[in-house]
Amino acid sequence: MQTATIAPPTSPKRSATLFPRDQWYVAAFAADVTQQPIARTFLNEKVVLFRTAEGQVAALEDRCCHRSLPLSCGTVEGGGLRCGYHGMLYAPSGQCIEIPGQDRVPAKAKVKAYHVAEQNQIIWIWMPVLDGAEPDSPPPVYPWHEHPNYKWGHGMYHYQAPWQLIHDNLIDLSHLGYVHLKTIGGNARLHMTAPTKVTQDGDVVKVKRLMPGSVPPPTYKAAWPFGDTCDRWQEIDFHLSHLRIWTGACEPGTDSLDDPERGGFHMRGFHGITPETGETCHYFWSMCANKHPDMPENIKEVVDQTRFTFDEDREVIENQYRNMLDFGERASWLDIHVDVGANRARRIVQRLTESQEDRQLTPA
Ligand code: FES
Ligand SMILES: [Fe+2]
Repeated sequence: MQTATIAPPTSPKRSATLFPRDQWYVAAFAADVTQQPIARTFLNEKVVLFRTAEGQVAALEDRCCHRSLPLSCGTVEGGGLRCGYHGMLYAPSGQCIEIPGQDRVPAKAKVKAYHVAEQNQIIWIWMPVLDGAEPDSPPPVYPWHEHPNYKWGHGMYHYQAPWQLIHDNLIDLSHLGYVHLKTIGGNARLHMTAPTKVTQDGDVVKVKRLMPGSVPPPTYKAAWPFGDTCDRWQEIDFHLSHLRIWTGACEPGTDSLDDPERGGFHMRGFHGITPETGETCHYFWSMCANKHPDMPENIKEVVDQTRFTFDEDREVIENQYRNMLDFGERASWLDIHVDVGANRARRIVQRLTESQEDRQLTPA
């Protein structure tokens, strides 16, 4: 067991201003971006998201270049967004294409535009180090939203807590037996003692826990006809912009838990976590589950219970952060055995943030 005392996770000053950039982050779920503009702040930058009449998703700086009204107060008109004050019309490129009552539109009448991509029901936004820089990679692929074996539901939270506290929570599922007894918990001691394998592949941290002989928790029972015990697995992949958590269970002794083709009940959670400021973030979640033929309503039940579960996490994390602020410098942390994966993720975020800082400081 590790018992080192570590410094507070991030200095508030540093975390308020710096995040890893030149990265795709989740901006929204596709279904939530309509012709009604959405104001959202990502990495301390105010952005307006909208969908044109032709269906194209766009993201612009949320400030008209004329007199600074948020463009999110405007309206979508055809292929552009019209400012709600004096009517300047902006294309998804950020260029103003019409100034009512004025023949000439100056070239400098434009606002910053962001690269966005709509893929697998997710809207991704590229947050560059340098304004206007092109993405150097495609957005992450997440096929499970469109996979025939799964049905899914989704939601989002605005968190009064920094994004990395949510990483910590999701990478370490040992809390299930203490926080989520009403849904996905099960036997608390088994969660704390399950052998946990932590590996790293580039900037991806993988945590795997196998728990044969578990008590099926309420969500599993609601979704699948388990008896008194089941064999559970938890596979967590941390990526900078999101986590993929593949959990589930099969009848005891029927399948190898190491076999990705194992049968039984499968839940695939998507968790997109995008910093808003150093102290707040957006948390976009979805849950895909497979359907048991005798329990056709199980997807709705799984999504409802997932939402309840994440409400519980939010209460814990926001309380945790309030307490960190109250205790300030005295809020040092002690590592225990469950923290290995989360600490690796923190090191990745720190390295990417620092390398970006170097790039900003080094003239091209
Ligand atoms: S503030 Fe937007 S057109 Fe005047
Ligand atoms: Fe949780």
